[in-house]
Amino acid sequence: MNRHGHFDALARMLHWLMAAMILAMLFIGAGMVVSLAWRPTLLDLHRPLGLAILLLAIVRLVNRLRSPPPPLPADLPAIQKRAAHASHWLLYGLMLAMPLIGWSMLSAGGYPVVLFGGVHLPAIAPHSPDLYALLRPAHTVLAYVLFATVLGHLGAALFHAWVRRDGVFSSMARSGKTGARP
Ligand code: HEM
Repeated sequence: MNRHGHFDALARMLHWLMAAMILAMLFIGAGMVVSLAWRPTLLDLHRPLGLAILLLAIVRLVNRLRSPPPPLPADLPAIQKRAAHASHWLLYGLMLAMPLIGWSMLSAGGYPVVLFGGVHLPAIAPHSPDLYALLRPAHTVLAYVLFATVLGHLGAALFHAWVRRDGVFSSMARSGKTGARP
């Protein structure tokens, strides 16, 4: 956090970059399972993008622990504060869990985990059809949970920006160096 009560530059950059990447991943994932023609191309994108999300989520988590976010407005009802904190930690959990489950499920199924340029990642789970049968639906269910949480998060952000106009949205949208908050 900087002295104006805004998120720091790294937190803001990672927030908007990862928002685009995660939304793209949800649609790429859905596209993969509904179109046989596009499946190989989309899957080749899905694996490295998912791994990039995992790495960026770790950087983001470390930055969040080192640089605390600005406090929510003092007049925000306690239930909304609790919902905000819970949904933020749920988003962190899902940003880490989704790629790890995707990688583990391919490992459990005995499939190669190939990135761009033919780089192979090692298996991170034992080869086991039973484990694959557990992880494959878990990847789908958690994708729905992620999508619903992202939608709730977007709705809350717009509520702060357009209804409450309390500076919460601009704390992630701008550096705060110009001083004015809507
Ligand atoms: C934030 C990260 C990720 C998100 C949001 C995500 C999202 C999705 C979604 C929405 C689907 C479609 C699920 C369905 O309709 O059943 C999917 C399928 C899939 N994902 Fe991911 N995924 C992520 C990371 C990964 C990673 C890192 C890998 C592998 C290294 C991976 C491998 C797969 C595979 C193989 C499928 C399709 C499986 C099949 O069709 O049998 N995912 N993913």
